[in-house]
Amino acid sequence: MEKEICWEKLPFSYIKTDYNVRCTYSNGKWGPIEVSDSEYIPMHIAASCLHYGQEAFEGLKAFRGKDGKVRVFRMDENAKRFRRSAEGILMEPLPEELFKDMVRMVVKLNAKFIPPYGSGASLYIRPLEIGMSPRVGVNPADEYTVIMLVTPVGPYFKAGFKPTKVCLSREYDRVAPKGTGSIKVGGNYAASLVAGDKAHKLGYSVMLYLDPKEKKYLDECGAANFYGVKGNTYVTPKSDSILPSITNKSIRQLAHDLGMKVEERHIPYEELSEFDEVGNCGTAAVCSPVGQIDDLDNGRTFEYGMEEAGPVTTKLYNKLRAIQYGEEPDEHGWCEIIDVQ
Ligand code: PLP
Ligand code: COI
Repeated sequence: MEKEICWEKLPFSYIKTDYNVRCTYSNGKWGPIEVSDSEYIPMHIAASCLHYGQEAFEGLKAFRGKDGKVRVFRMDENAKRFRRSAEGILMEPLPEELFKDMVRMVVKLNAKFIPPYGSGASLYIRPLEIGMSPRVGVNPADEYTVIMLVTPVGPYFKAGFKPTKVCLSREYDRVAPKGTGSIKVGGNYAASLVAGDKAHKLGYSVMLYLDPKEKKYLDECGAANFYGVKGNTYVTPKSDSILPSITNKSIRQLAHDLGMKVEERHIPYEELSEFDEVGNCGTAAVCSPVGQIDDLDNGRTFEYGMEEAGPVTTKLYNKLRAIQYGEEPDEHGWCEIIDVQ
């Protein structure tokens, strides 16, 4: 089974692993972490997650390093965001220590699925929380289940670290201006499917959204944050309708370490014509170059080069990967080494 996995050719998709871990909140408290070898979960047909979308999730990765050690990247940040997402849809927040214990356990239990160093692949960890109580009126549940599953993954974009074409349209909003855009709830992704499908059918990797209020500023770029590079400056949107990306936060720090100026601010649409490089970043996307942006509404095209990633994107990508794979010192203390023996 796992012997048949061709690590170098892994897509970003689901492969069955041996175990997932689960934890349930009921009668006002979280129970013990349970280990399961089932890919299924029994639930009430009126569960609040099924009817009213009480679901939040996270995404983080474990890497097998050059030294053979297994590193999980910034899980304390994911633990915090998971808590914020739960609070944003009135679910019981999972204590951050419990989140981290679950991550450690699910990685150890599935150690043989952590791709080898040099394959370019990693183990994607997907925590999720769902409301389990039967609800027909629109009310939050009082019982919740957190599940953490893992799956080995390769690059999010098929071509790997190569520029992709992105499209932009004012016809779609990913989220509402004061809605759930800054938290990671499943409903946001359901709401993005039509736009994403349109982008794919037209041959683009993702849809770049403008802000949902005024349609003036660059917002989310598919399921990742947008960034642009102008000379020695790294610019990324400040918006309460984008997910505060942990990858972007890390890249901002790396850009700063490289002596770049870092700006988090509104980015007017017109500024697309001023960037030397643009890209999108996230756990799945890592730091992916964008070679061209086509505005579907007015036919304008912004070109950054489809041949290869720009020098700044390449530098930031290499630096981030080197830390994650233990090739360079983890100066910011972002990785936790997990003893998988
Ligand atoms: N934006 C959206 C909508 C996402 O789904 C993700 C992925 O998690 C990101 C941004 C990037 O966030 P992170 O770097 O924390 O994975
Ligand atoms: C991630 O980058 O972890 C994501 O959640 C993006 C996408 C796969 C939903």
